Amino acid sequence: MSMKYHIITYGCQMNRSDSERIAAVLEKIGYSPTLDKDKADLIVINVCSVRQSAVDRVYGQISNIKNKNLKKIKNQKIVLTGCILPKDKENLKNKTDLILDIDQLMSWPQILSKIETKLKNKQFKNFKFKNYLNIFPKFSTFPIAYVPIMTGCNNFCSYCVVPYTRGREISRPAEEIICEVKELIKRGYKMIILLGQNVNSYQGKLKTQKEKIIRFPKLVKMINDLDGNFWLTFISNHPKDLSDKLIETMARCEKVMSYLHLPVQAGDDEILRRMNRNYTITHYKNLIKKIRLKFFAIRKGIEKNINISTDIIVGFPGETKKQFLNTTKLMKEVKFDMAYIAKYSPRPATSAAKLKDDVSQEEKERRWKILAKILEKTALEKNKKYLNKIVEVLIESKKDNSLFGRTKTFKQVKVSNFQSQDSDLIGKFVKVKIKKVTPWGMEGELFY
Ligand code: 5AD
Ligand code: SF4
Repeated sequence: MSMKYHIITYGCQMNRSDSERIAAVLEKIGYSPTLDKDKADLIVINVCSVRQSAVDRVYGQISNIKNKNLKKIKNQKIVLTGCILPKDKENLKNKTDLILDIDQLMSWPQILSKIETKLKNKQFKNFKFKNYLNIFPKFSTFPIAYVPIMTGCNNFCSYCVVPYTRGREISRPAEEIICEVKELIKRGYKMIILLGQNVNSYQGKLKTQKEKIIRFPKLVKMINDLDGNFWLTFISNHPKDLSDKLIETMARCEKVMSYLHLPVQAGDDEILRRMNRNYTITHYKNLIKKIRLKFFAIRKGIEKNINISTDIIVGFPGETKKQFLNTTKLMKEVKFDMAYIAKYSPRPATSAAKLKDDVSQEEKERRWKILAKILEKTALEKNKKYLNKIVEVLIESKKDNSLFGRTKTFKQVKVSNFQSQDSDLIGKFVKVKIKKVTPWGMEGELFY
């Protein structure tokens, strides 16, 4: 009987990308996927520790599986991986079969053979990878592909757990990334999203020229210059490391999407200082101005108005009402297309965890709502620019009677007037006339 696996993924794109590599490894050693958790022999939970709520869900999942296992004869194996704090590792050790580091994915086959009898005595001969990012993933989001270019983080923002769970920054060699992207283009992928906790500090080696270090703007240019009809973008950026060179490169490289995710986290200099972010609001606003002007000068059509999104945390320890007001001011000034607003949640091991979490839950909620309201307004204002325009859309998926896709400005578009034979439009660029906009997306009709 075949062995079946099911992966549960929490958290960011990086975790989702890791799950695609885990799937590739499991299938190489004889597992096949199942969407039904109950039918799986092996359940992999790819954990996120960025917020406590995600960790709580992991604990919930595990006890659910355990309870079900107790009632059945089949004994499902549970493997935990991803971003896990040492304290949680300790707590969960006895509740799971294995806790494995994602950067050891190359040795998972040997380790798994200790808990799965069907894998015993198997030789994993073709399984010689230098590092885990080397493993070619089972890409699962055609025509979009997420390509990690680095892992880890050196920034130690005071609220953030990532440097503790993912370790220090390691950049993939440039050729390896180029090779993966070339293969994706060959397979028809149309949107390449480079991933890293802070892609702006990418420093990859070139094997062919031993001494040469490739920095991020150069990597972007190298990928942009590959043959093929595709779009390119990347997340996440850091305001302290986003260089003028990158701004220039982005605007001039025609395949780079008119989109930038630039987390600001707070609109107050003192809070930013305590978050250890290493930039000021003046610096941030300058960056936004520069990039908007550049795109406006160089790009054409809707690409002139670059889509800018951000991350914001409300209720950082000691954030006063006045400091919060500075965040509202910033949001009104910058007019983001999108903002992922989070309520501060203390994370063990981080330096902010030593500070008193003194903004009450209700006050965090109140602040969150105020920002969400501002965002709703600015996002709608931005999207209104698309009304009645004919835009190019990359079709990503089909659900019920609609197609879904994105513009080159990374705006989500729902297309309603398609005929059933149009379902093979997935992975194609089409023209869409925008008929309706909301703050969170837009709708249009295929323009033949
Ligand atoms: N509390 C709330 N939000 C957080 N983030 C990171 N750590 C925390 C925390 N402790 C948010 C940041 C980051 C995004 C990925 O998650 O805004 O940019
Ligand atoms: Fe966390 Fe800051 Fe690194 Fe982003 S840059 S992963 S917020 S430490």
